[in-house]
Amino acid sequence: MSDVDNINVSHYAVFGNPIEHSRSPDIHQQFALQLAQAMTYQRQLVELGAFESSAAHFFANGGAGLNITVPFKLDAYQFAEQLSERAKRAGAVNTLIAKEGVVIGDNTDGCGLLADLQNNLQWPIEGANILVLGAGGAVRGILEPLLLAKPESIIIANRTLEKAQHVSESFSQLANEVGCDLSAMQYSDIDKPFTIIINGTSASLEGGTLPLANECFIGAYCYDMMYAKTPTAFLQLAAKQGARGIADGLGMLVEQAAESFRLWRDVKPDTRPVIQSIRSDL
Ligand code: ATR
Repeated sequence: MSDVDNINVSHYAVFGNPIEHSRSPDIHQQFALQLAQAMTYQRQLVELGAFESSAAHFFANGGAGLNITVPFKLDAYQFAEQLSERAKRAGAVNTLIAKEGVVIGDNTDGCGLLADLQNNLQWPIEGANILVLGAGGAVRGILEPLLLAKPESIIIANRTLEKAQHVSESFSQLANEVGCDLSAMQYSDIDKPFTIIINGTSASLEGGTLPLANECFIGAYCYDMMYAKTPTAFLQLAAKQGARGIADGLGMLVEQAAESFRLWRDVKPDTRPVIQSIRSDL
């Protein structure tokens, strides 16, 4: 490519550790092709402790934007010179945008989940009774958009109850504002059915399931924020116990990427063909 061509090409990347299995380059290349955007997108393995220097180097060399994955979302939060409201609330950043010399931090994870639940799956959220499993960074990232979709109640359940209580407290004001009953519980105290159950723990990564009563799953729409070639252990259990529908987090992955893309390029890609293509490549 000549220098003249290169001047108009914007450069993006995903930073993480590990990073070799990241699907983000494939997803963003498909978006770029679809919308004829002059851009590159690469994966970059960042050594632990080297996030700040790597990100500073990337932007000093004209990088236009970054996606951030495990374990650097908190580092990216610290690194950003400005933060969106949703990034502040989530306490984590998965998207950095260079704009007029300033690096802005945003978080598109929650918006990605909501787009998948509402637009792709068309599961009912308004008025729903929702059980959220887990109280880590992934769950913090989804609570604001989930609350804004006005469910009747959200219970946050976690192996370590104190963490669920802490997360519940930090979103209690928003919950009051939207009229949602938000609370924290232990898995063993939950025995009623729900409209929607969202697994935001990393238990599926270890192939494990959670000690939930079988009744919880009956008639519920069950979502695992993890995804895999075959249904996760959580989704297999949900289907066996009578769930109304099951879905993994591949749609969320593509939707959060689409929102990052929109922030960078000001155009929103069509996610459906990309979800299908990534699914068939798993
Ligand atoms: P992330 O940023 O992906 O959310 P995290 O902050 O480490 O990662 O949170 C992981 C979540 O998965 C936590 O809710 C954790 O429960 P604890 O807070 O009790 O540690 C949950 N988790 C991980 N492995 C689990 C397992 N085998 N059984 C139950 N919960 C598990």
